[in-house]
Amino acid sequence: MSELPLLRVENLTREFTSSGGLFRPRKRMRAVENVSFDLPRGSVTGVVGESGCGKSTLARLVLRLLDATEGRVIFQGEDLGRLPPLALRRTRRRMQMVFQDPYSAIDPRFTIARAVLEPFQVQGLPLTTADQAEKAADLLRMVGLDPALAGKYPHQLSGGQKQRVGIARALALEPNFLVLDEPTASLDVSIQAQIIALLEELRDRLGLTYLFISHDLGLVRYACDRVIVMYLGSIVEILPTAHAAPRHPYTKALIDSSFAPDPTQRKPITRLSGEIPSAYQRPLGCAFAARCPSASNLCRSTRPALSQSPHAVACHHPHD
Ligand SMILES: Nc1ncnc2c1ncn2[C@@H]1O[C@H](COP(=O)(O)OP(=O)(O)OP(=O)(O)O)[C@@H](O)[C@H]1O
Ligand code: SF4
Ligand SMILES: [Mg+2]
Repeated sequence: MSELPLLRVENLTREFTSSGGLFRPRKRMRAVENVSFDLPRGSVTGVVGESGCGKSTLARLVLRLLDATEGRVIFQGEDLGRLPPLALRRTRRRMQMVFQDPYSAIDPRFTIARAVLEPFQVQGLPLTTADQAEKAADLLRMVGLDPALAGKYPHQLSGGQKQRVGIARALALEPNFLVLDEPTASLDVSIQAQIIALLEELRDRLGLTYLFISHDLGLVRYACDRVIVMYLGSIVEILPTAHAAPRHPYTKALIDSSFAPDPTQRKPITRLSGEIPSAYQRPLGCAFAARCPSASNLCRSTRPALSQSPHAVACHHPHD
C-alpha cells in the first residue's frame, strides 16, 4: 500500500469580489478554481504559470493563511478547515512559507537573531536568553551563514544573505513542509543557484517536502521532481517528472519560450503572444483557446476537464 501523502488538496476554490462602484456592479472571479493534488512526503512539487494565474493565492490557501471558498486542505490526515484555532496554530509549526521578497519579509528594526527567532514568539514558545543565542547560531549555521551575523540588522546583509535568513526563520520550528513562493525571483542569477543548492541540501538533510512556486518553468524543471502547470486559476497539466514531454499546448509554449540548458543562464518565461483572458470574464470553453494554435470549435464551446492519469492534462487535443 502506498504511503499517505503529506498534503492533499481537494477541489480548492477561492473567489474574490471586485469592490464595484456607484455605477459599476460588484463582480466575482475565481483566482483558484477546483484545484486538486497530492504532495508525497519528501517530494518537491513545482507550481508554474504566468503572473496572476493564482500561484500565491494557492500558496496562502494551502497554508490556510486564506480561507477557501470551497474545497479542503488535508495535512498529515487533518482537515485544516475543521481544526479549532489552537490546534491550527500548533499544526502551523509543521508548515511554513518562504517569501519572494526577503526585504519586506524581515522587519528592518529586528536584529537577525530576533528575525530568525520570531516564530517562537508568534507561537508563544519562550526561550531563555542562553537558548536564544544558541538557537539563533544553529539556525544561521544551518543555512550557511556566519553566526556572527546574529547581531546585525537586515540592511547590513546582501539579498542572498537575507533570503537565507528568511529560510532560517521558516526552519526555526522544525517544520516538515515548506511553501516557497518565488524564493529566488528577486535575486541575481548566480545567487539564485546558491539558494536552490541550499534548499536541495536542506531537503535531503531534514527530510522536507516542498511546494515550489515560480513563473520560471526552466527553474522549476531544474529544481523539482514534478510540475503543476496553472492557467487562469486552474491546473492545465501535471508533469509526473520534471522532464516528461508536455502534452498541453500551454506547457509546450512555456517550455519553448524558456528553454536554456545551463541553469545559470535561464531567463524567466518571455510573454507568450495573445492576451490572458480576464478572470472576471472567463471564456465559456478552454481558457487558453484564444492563444492556442490547436484550438477547435469544441475548445471554444466546452471546457476540457483535467484527466485522472498521473500525467494529468486538461485539453481536448493534447500532444502525444
Ligand atoms: N485579495 C485579493 N482581492 C482581489 N483579487 C485578488 C486578491 N488576491 C489576488 N487577487 C487576484 O487573484 C489573481 C491571482 O493572483 P495571485 O497573486 O495568486 O497570482 P500569482 O500567480 O501569484 O501572480 P504573480 O506571478 O504575479 O505573483 C489575480 O487576478 C489577482 O489580481
Ligand atoms: S482544449 Fe483546445 S484550445 Fe485548449 S489547450 Fe487544448 S487544444 Fe488548445
Ligand atoms: Mg505570486
